[in-house]
Amino acid sequence: MTKKYYITTPIYYVNGAPHLGHAYTSVAADVLARWHRLSGDEVFFLTGTDEHGQKVEAAARTAGLAPQAFTDRVAADFKDMTRRMNISNDDFIRTTEPRHKAAAQALWRRLAAAGMIYLGAYEGFYSVRDEAFYDEDELTTRPDGTRIATATGAPVEWVVEPSYFFKLSAFQDRLLAFYEENPGFIAPVAKRNEILSFVRGGLKDLSISRTSFTWGIEVPDDPAHVMYVWLDALVNYLTATGYPDAQAPRAAFWPASLHLVGKEIIRFHAVYWPAFLMAAGLPLPGGVFSHGWWTVEGEKMSKSTGNFIDIRPLVDEFGLDVMRFFLLREVPFGNDGDFSRKNLIARTNAELANGLGNLGQRTLSFIAKNAGGVVPARGDLHDVDRALLNMAGLLPARMTAAMDRLAFHEALEEVWKLIRAADGYIDQQAPWSLRKTDTGRMASVLHTLVSVLRVIAILLQPFMPDAMAALLDQLGVAADARFFASLGANVVEGTILPAPVGIFPRFVDAA
Ligand code: MSP
Repeated sequence: MTKKYYITTPIYYVNGAPHLGHAYTSVAADVLARWHRLSGDEVFFLTGTDEHGQKVEAAARTAGLAPQAFTDRVAADFKDMTRRMNISNDDFIRTTEPRHKAAAQALWRRLAAAGMIYLGAYEGFYSVRDEAFYDEDELTTRPDGTRIATATGAPVEWVVEPSYFFKLSAFQDRLLAFYEENPGFIAPVAKRNEILSFVRGGLKDLSISRTSFTWGIEVPDDPAHVMYVWLDALVNYLTATGYPDAQAPRAAFWPASLHLVGKEIIRFHAVYWPAFLMAAGLPLPGGVFSHGWWTVEGEKMSKSTGNFIDIRPLVDEFGLDVMRFFLLREVPFGNDGDFSRKNLIARTNAELANGLGNLGQRTLSFIAKNAGGVVPARGDLHDVDRALLNMAGLLPARMTAAMDRLAFHEALEEVWKLIRAADGYIDQQAPWSLRKTDTGRMASVLHTLVSVLRVIAILLQPFMPDAMAALLDQLGVAADARFFASLGANVVEGTILPAPVGIFPRFVDAA
């Protein structure tokens, strides 16, 4: 039976244009979605936009637009980024859609019916930038007397208003028991520990409605309140499965396999969300993985410094797959990293142009010139050939082990070990010399190289879909033989190969 795999990105706030950080989360999720599709899983991959709340309402006001007109415009920009990054999402959800309002209200009613919601008054700190409530002990006082959230540096304001509350305090023990039984639920482990100590420290009931503004989903039966934007937003993961319709075509995708999130929003996904789901009697997701943040040329990306960088001009300059590769190769997933042009150029020149690109080009142009432009005959294999082929044979399992831990950079390092070995193999076997002395042996060496390139190209498809499609075309691999299930097959001797063309450019740093 095929396995269902449901993966999500966070839904992006539409208070500003998409930047490198958003593209990062989306590319990582896309690589996982593609990886699972090629493995034969039935995948549902969701992304979208988070369009309600005070922060978005304020951004619309600044732009001089009505909130809906403003969110329509910014959501279109996020859709454009999604398309330009070749994100293979199956759905794009916007929280202003009717299907989502219906789902959020249905979940609210279910929580209310279960006795998990009561009316009270909120008196405390709120950060519009983080759309989060903070306790006094989570704040730092600046020299000028203003207060900011210690974790994020976001300013807070004092709020007093009627509010509905969710009985989060009742879930401390159940959550701790759940984390205990599902040690992989929160990753990486440092984040898990952070959440464990937060929950062990005690949970207070959570304010889940606001009355001081109107840009949100109405609370059922009490239109003076709009839902707290995080309750609204988290429900998106259910909405897309057709919730509350248990017969909806995608209903069976719930619970999600994995929520991919940035490190600053782990608490919402690993504490509040499971508590809401437990309270509603719904199954919990398989896991939540928190990735790190990018700085740009050593600087934090921030509104105040205006150095948010859009990935699209970089894609135009360097190429889509070069950017996709770099984001996941440069920094261990889960860690913070710094984006610099110098490193982008150095790494992609070394590993793409001079590494994989050169290996493909060297092999294929040699075949075009000296072996009739067809996949050469295998002949008798030598130990060196077998050693390289064995290494290629072990690659799927090695990569899978890394991908299962979301260690993208390690999965890629496994591929590059093989590429380096194949480079050494060509130098040592020197097909250019064999051409004069032993054409049968030359054919075997080239056949071995084509076989190894085929495995590499199939396995790298999730990271660089277009570039690997081009390489697989050049290797004469049929479109229906590019799945992981096809890895055990081999290239077919005599297949006519198209004229080889380089797949990765080499960059010169003008700076
Ligand atoms: N709307 C909420 C998520 C709701 S999910 C139910 C939100 N949106 S966001 O637009 O602020 O951020 C979305 C994602 O972008 C987060 O995963 C965040 O970590 C990521 N990034 C934003 N800036 C980033 C960097 N500088 N670097 C890496 N990723 C960062 O939070």
